[in-house]
Amino acid sequence: MTACNWTIELATLESLSEILRIEEACFSAPWTRKMLEAELSGNPFAHFLVARHEGRTEVLAEAIVGYLCYWIVFEEVRLMNLAVIESMRHRGIARSLVSTALQTGISQTAHRAVLEVRASNQAAQRLYEGFGFSQTAIRPKYYANPEEDAVLMELDPIVVRPSGSPVCRDEGGYQPLQ
Ligand SMILES: CC(C)(COP(=O)(O)OP(=O)(O)OC[C@H]1O[C@@H](n2cnc3c(N)ncnc32)[C@H](O)[C@@H]1OP(=O)(O)O)[C@@H](O)C(=O)NCCC(=O)NCCS
Repeated sequence: MTACNWTIELATLESLSEILRIEEACFSAPWTRKMLEAELSGNPFAHFLVARHEGRTEVLAEAIVGYLCYWIVFEEVRLMNLAVIESMRHRGIARSLVSTALQTGISQTAHRAVLEVRASNQAAQRLYEGFGFSQTAIRPKYYANPEEDAVLMELDPIVVRPSGSPVCRDEGGYQPLQ
C-alpha cells in the first residue's frame, strides 16, 4: 500500500481558524466562521473530519490540510463541504475523507449519499464518480458568485471500495469515525 503522511481525524473547535483559512482560499463564496462553527458545535446531524499533515504537527494551527463536513440524516449521508489545500492535492486526501464519511454513514443509519456540486467543478465530479455517484438532476442558477447551476449527485446504495487509495498511518484502511 502507498505510504502517506497525513491522518484523518475528527475536527474540533480548535481547528476552526485553519478550516476557515482553507475555506476562504478554496471557494469564491466561502462559508463564514459562524457557519463553520455551527456545523462544528451546534448541528446534531453534522460530522466534521480534518486531514492533518504529520510533518506539520509541531505547529498545530497549520497542520490541517483538508476537511469534510457531512451530515448523517437518518438513511442519508449529505456531503456538505469539502476542500484540500492546493499544495496537498492529488494525493488521495479528498478520497480518504469521503470514504471515511461513507463508512461512518454505513456504520450508523445511512444507505444513500447525496451532494451538490458546481457544474464546472470537474475535479470534484470525477472524485464522486470514482465512488459510484451519478448525476440525478440539475438545479439551475443554484450557486452565486459566480452564478452557476448545481449538479445533484447520488450514491444508492453506498458501497465503498477504497482500492488503490493511500491509507492512513497504520495502513489499516478506512475506519468509521464516530
Ligand atoms: C476537489 C478536491 C477536494 C479534490 O481533492 P484531492 O485531495 O486533490 O483529491 P484526491 O487526490 O483524493 O483525488 C481523488 C480522485 O478525484 C479526481 N480528481 C481530483 N482532482 C482532480 C482534477 N484536478 N481533475 C480531474 N479529476 C480529479 C480523480 O478521479 C482522483 O483520482 P485519481 O487521483 O486516481 O485520478 C480539491 O481539488 C479541492 O479542494 N478543490 C477546491 C474545493 C472544491 O472544489 N471542493 C469540492 C466541492 S463539491
